[in-house]
Amino acid sequence: MPLVNTKDMLKKAYEGNYAIGAFNVNNMEIVQGITKACKELNSPAILQVSAGARKYANHTYLTKLVEAAVIETPVPLALHLDHGDSFELCKSCIDGGFTSVMIDGSHLDYEDNIALAKKVAEYAHPRGVEVEAELGRLAGIEDDVNVSLDKASYTDPAQVEDFVERTGVDSLAIAIGTSHGAYKFKPGQKPQLRFDILKEVEKRLPGFPIVLHGASSVIPEFVEMINANGGQMPDAIGIPEEMLREAAKMAVCKINIDSDLRLAMTGTIRKYLNENPSHFDPRQYLSPAREAIYKIVSHKISTVLGSANKA
Ligand code: G3H
Ligand code: 13P
Ligand code: ZN
Repeated sequence: MPLVNTKDMLKKAYEGNYAIGAFNVNNMEIVQGITKACKELNSPAILQVSAGARKYANHTYLTKLVEAAVIETPVPLALHLDHGDSFELCKSCIDGGFTSVMIDGSHLDYEDNIALAKKVAEYAHPRGVEVEAELGRLAGIEDDVNVSLDKASYTDPAQVEDFVERTGVDSLAIAIGTSHGAYKFKPGQKPQLRFDILKEVEKRLPGFPIVLHGASSVIPEFVEMINANGGQMPDAIGIPEEMLREAAKMAVCKINIDSDLRLAMTGTIRKYLNENPSHFDPRQYLSPAREAIYKIVSHKISTVLGSANKA
């Protein structure tokens, strides 16, 4: 099955009250771990590449890795640009084989965000590529940009119809209290999401796919594994899985997960090297790391997203 865009998968997810996992990819082991889980569970997925990933691994290497995964994995897979920050970056990914792009103008003022998203949608749509935009601003770290809690802002539901209508985008990322990275809430703080905002957005945009960024649960097992093997991570808190399940039953059709993969991979490599201090063949520690990615993605698909057997 060739790479697909996200149109059908998001529509089916909306109608079926589940969500598609959008997993960040940076290298071969991550692509293989994710797609092994998708194949085994017959689940569609979005493989997403950030500007930082593209800088690290190079556009050609990443697209070729995803092309290989598509040959090996008989389920719908989309290749998506995560947090594109300019028209030029989106254009380069559209011209270079991506089937979906995010234009993230959430740092711009409202009218500039609209103008940029509209320009990307007008370029993408005739080429069969879907566009995600963001309204509201998440806290946390993406690439080298650190948005502090006081600079973050919830999505204003009163703006969403106007934004979607004037931009022509196909999905909308909203800010309801999730954030990027491993430190989403302060120690002792009870994780909370603004489901009231999500409900209001859903009411104003019936049938329209909503995206949740910053949706890692920060599985304690992996933070403990990192710290038990020489790491020094302070208390890390993520989004409880039951909240993600609830969001997936609502208008949220795409759930972005990166930090959980990073933690699983790093914890596993640290443990392996700690237990096998004389080993130095990268295949020895990357094999269990790839297996850890496969297991965490399998867990997300079957118990959080609900996308198993929806291929
Ligand atoms: O939202 C950000 C993703 O976790 C990607 O992170 O920009 O460091 O690759 P990155
Ligand atoms: P996490 O940092 O919670 O995994 O979020 C990833 C993300 O939103 C990628 O766009
Ligand atoms: Zn994000």
